Amino acid sequence: MARIIVVTSGKGGVGKTTSSAAIASGLALAGHKTAVIDFDIGLRNLDLILGCERRVVYDFVNVLNGEASLQQALIKDKRSENLFILPASQTRDKDALTMEGVQQVLSELDQLGFEFVICDSPAGIEHGAMMALYFADEAIITTNPEVSSVRDSDRILGILDAKSKRAEKGLEPVKQHLLITRYNPSRVDAGEMLSVDDILEILNIPLLGVIPESQSVLNASNKGVPVVFEEQADAGQAYQDAVARLVGEDKPMRYVKAEKKSLLKRIFGG
Ligand SMILES: Nc1ncnc2c1ncn2[C@@H]1O[C@H](COP(=O)(O)OP(=O)(O)OP(=O)(O)O)[C@@H](O)[C@H]1O
Ligand SMILES: [Mg+2]
Repeated sequence: MARIIVVTSGKGGVGKTTSSAAIASGLALAGHKTAVIDFDIGLRNLDLILGCERRVVYDFVNVLNGEASLQQALIKDKRSENLFILPASQTRDKDALTMEGVQQVLSELDQLGFEFVICDSPAGIEHGAMMALYFADEAIITTNPEVSSVRDSDRILGILDAKSKRAEKGLEPVKQHLLITRYNPSRVDAGEMLSVDDILEILNIPLLGVIPESQSVLNASNKGVPVVFEEQADAGQAYQDAVARLVGEDKPMRYVKAEKKSLLKRIFGG
């Protein structure tokens, strides 16, 4: 059975799409057949971050409306043969996402032998976000180290436990993973941001990873290459670790402590 994983947050702009692209690519690189679905109808960010926007012919809504088959709409990633992207449509019609339609697409992906289906949720808790999380087996709660983001993540945890299919059917609850993104240890030390421990204390769910605030994320998205391919980049390595943990490996957390400047650097700058 495919593992259906929603990347969600409540709050906007915290790094859901960046994380969906990086994690889906990382899983594919590790040999797992993975599909990533853009639930953000009207915006279409995921295909840009994955650098496949020019290959989009059909999209998620075309499939839901019966205008194209799932196979016609799935875009094969140019870097990994194990990764397929189902892009969002540019239409403003958010009601195009129906429960039956989404369920049909997910079960077809399962029949096609996908091991992982990553659902990139839109912000908020409106229809699109609910559709993205409803069928999930697992959720990656994407959170920035600031109070408003943690508060929204807490709200999403409540929704997962009350309004997901698993909750409604009385099945085992949606498995929750915390992904802290845009983490800046120096600002945490300066008391300007919440620490990993602060966030864990509030949300109290297992930590999947901590992704540092990094220029490499911006550079990668400008190039249309998921940051997980930047092997030297701190954020790329942190995403690789998170992917490894998702498939059951044990990895120590990196990039959670501020780099100590050497005495020489402190005296002479740099
Ligand atoms: N670790 C990071 N370091 C620096 N910038 C980051 C990091 N993660 C994400 N960003 C930047 O934050 C912005 C928002 O990221 P992204 O689009 O992934 O968020 P989102 O949660 O999907 O947003 P939305 O709610 O609008 O869908 C982007 O400009 C992205 O490049
Ligand atoms: Mg997004």
